[in-house]
Amino acid sequence: MTTNRNSGRILERPVFERLLFAQCWEDPLLDREALQTKPGDALLSVTSGGCNTLSLATLGPERVIAVDLNATQNYLLELKIAGILNLDHGGYLRLLGVRESGLRWHLYQAVRERLSPLAQAYWDSKRPSIESGVLRAGRYERYLNAFRYLLHVIQGPRTVRRLFECESLEDQHRFYRENWDSRTWRLFFRTFFSRTVLGLGGLDPEFFTYVSGVKSFGDHFRRLAHHALVDLPIRDNYFLAQICLGRYLDEHAVPPYLRAENFNTLRNTVGRIEIVTGELGDILSQLPSHSVDQFNFSNVFEWVPQPTFERILRETHRVARPGARLCYRNLLVRRKHPENLDDMFAQHQNLAARLLWQDRSFVYSHFEVAEVKKDPRIAKEEKWQRPQVYEAVTP
Ligand SMILES: C[S@@+](CC[C@H](N)C(=O)[O-])C[C@H]1O[C@@H](n2cnc3c(N)ncnc32)[C@H](O)[C@@H]1O
Repeated sequence: MTTNRNSGRILERPVFERLLFAQCWEDPLLDREALQTKPGDALLSVTSGGCNTLSLATLGPERVIAVDLNATQNYLLELKIAGILNLDHGGYLRLLGVRESGLRWHLYQAVRERLSPLAQAYWDSKRPSIESGVLRAGRYERYLNAFRYLLHVIQGPRTVRRLFECESLEDQHRFYRENWDSRTWRLFFRTFFSRTVLGLGGLDPEFFTYVSGVKSFGDHFRRLAHHALVDLPIRDNYFLAQICLGRYLDEHAVPPYLRAENFNTLRNTVGRIEIVTGELGDILSQLPSHSVDQFNFSNVFEWVPQPTFERILRETHRVARPGARLCYRNLLVRRKHPENLDDMFAQHQNLAARLLWQDRSFVYSHFEVAEVKKDPRIAKEEKWQRPQVYEAVTP
């Protein structure tokens, strides 16, 4: 694994040698509106589950650089790309686990040739994950499976199903008050999403190194979940469907990269995605000045100390084209866009607050959107070179 001045001890945790996220648990509609990616643009996006990078690729950027320090996240993105190139839309949904299939291992054989040797070796050794649908293969998804199992015990399968039959926000509100928000639910939620259980089960205790001022993780997340359950239409919320039902409600309520109408566009754009395994600050330092239009940073900044966060933002400014846009989330650690960088970035606080309110993935407490201030006359683009590839895992 790469180590450099940007890496803290969190980034060296063994948890990064396993697949953590098989899906992105971040609402891609926020990134889309914040970043305003358009054909011809160059985009840098943290890979994670690959979904949001692919969803931004549906907008036709000329160049996409997908970065993750966890090589297995990048192997997943490779698999998702290979499926787009080698399967039809139905086959793709079957391979990933959106549609039922007993033939996933055969579908995998049909896409395998597109993968790099390391990704081939990785997925060859993960037959059970392929056969049960890779969208369920991450450590975090397995944690949510356990949540769903217990949720059905506590609320009863019929109550869980009925929540998704609510047709209006009034219905949802009433249903939540009368059938859902019991003391047992509160206790269960508080326990399951406590610092200890989330750290040991879903993420890693070290991920909370920089958390301060959050008294109870469970109460914090339950307040955010309350907003998603009562203020946002449940039928559009594929995150809640995945969490509570373990499936999408239908094939329209899915992330943009899985929608039938985007499949052909993706076939034309996924070839422009360059996948790089390495630490974000390292990768940025290797990119030419004035070369990138958008940056999707997920919530990576809460896993590094404040000075590293600011250093990465300064490097982002160097790499950015004039008017470039960036966005990132805060889950538990406040990484506010620093005011001492106001000469480099204009913040879009109103836009960010409006988007956060609409966030169907609901667990984030803040969303930050900023635009790069740079004089177009001095910003002469340097020649683009592919950043050096680091491989963190040898399967
Ligand atoms: C920050 S995590 C959060 C996951 C996210 N909230 C989601 O729902 O998809 C996203 C990805 O960032 C990667 N990551 C974290 N810190 C990084 C860094 N400094 N450089 C590169 N990748 C990083 C992790 O390996 C992970 O796959």
